Amino acid sequence: MTPGPASPDPAPPFAVLAELTHRCPLRCPYCSNPVALEPASAELDTATWKRVLDEAAEAGALQVHFSGGEPCVRKDLEELVAHATQAGLYSNLITSAVLLDAGRLERLKAAGLQHVQVSLQDVEPGGGDRIGGFRGGHARKLEVARMVVEAGLALTINAVLHRHNIERVNDFIDLALALRAGRIEIANVQYYGWALANRAALMPTREQLLTMDARVRERLPSLAGRIVVDYVVPDYYARRPKSCMGGWGRRFMNVTPAGKVLPCHAAETIPHLEFETVFDRPLPDIWRDGAAFRRYRGTGWMPEPCQSCEHKEEDWGGCRCQALALAGDADATDPVCERSAAHAAVAAVRDRDADSVGTVWRYRGI
Ligand code: FES
Repeated sequence: MTPGPASPDPAPPFAVLAELTHRCPLRCPYCSNPVALEPASAELDTATWKRVLDEAAEAGALQVHFSGGEPCVRKDLEELVAHATQAGLYSNLITSAVLLDAGRLERLKAAGLQHVQVSLQDVEPGGGDRIGGFRGGHARKLEVARMVVEAGLALTINAVLHRHNIERVNDFIDLALALRAGRIEIANVQYYGWALANRAALMPTREQLLTMDARVRERLPSLAGRIVVDYVVPDYYARRPKSCMGGWGRRFMNVTPAGKVLPCHAAETIPHLEFETVFDRPLPDIWRDGAAFRRYRGTGWMPEPCQSCEHKEEDWGGCRCQALALAGDADATDPVCERSAAHAAVAAVRDRDADSVGTVWRYRGI
């Protein structure tokens, strides 16, 4: 593997995504976990996660996102949150919510948890339970979301949109307001992991996309000061790439259930990268000069037209995993960019998938 140009010491990571497990009671067909899921037997133990949290704080990270899979399947979650608090990290729990109850929420709060992000699959039980593949899940999510706010914790609603629910974007916003969430992520599905495998079953049509976009933009002014809205045009309909992960090796590091240290959740799809694990070296060393982190950090690796683009320090070259998935080359210009030679091919794939109305998705599972 070519390590990428040596760079001066990078700024500290902003956050570490601790993927405690790939186990999850839900079976969402757009899960961003890899299609080859890690079994429970491969997961890091409590003592190793605690060391990882100490090293994350030492590397300068401010936040830890406890994620998965479903992090609540880990019986040591409270212990890990307490340890993160002791290490000075702000803790966020990214959860499906179906395994939480008032007692556990209280214990997590006592351990120092500050923020909870609950994902919603739809705005009503029929759609929510069908998409998540978990009966009773939607009602449970709403109950837990209310408990989160009552417990005095910050709540974000993660509303995942695709062909089967995108028309209900306004209902998602109304539901988030009714739940007294502080923030809503209008999260159009990003096609990695299971979502990439199910792209033909999930891709919205252009008409759906335009309607949703108009509805969101119309509501944004009236939502100011009431709820924070995170919204970006989904990749396959965009003309400019997103700043994926805030730039490769600039803001985030992911630790997988088995302890691999990645620059993003999908980085393992890039075959020429080699990843260190938490057993190889301390996190601050991997962040500073790990070869996978150096490979696409900064702007030195960029080809033309990115190299001479005025936006190169805004989008940091877009998404490497998407360049691989859509252009067959992780080093290429992100094909979402209209200046990429492969941009027209993305539109063709998108339109073909959006037309595949009869396609049935495959649920996530081991
Ligand atoms: Fe890997 Fe975007 S998901 S760089």
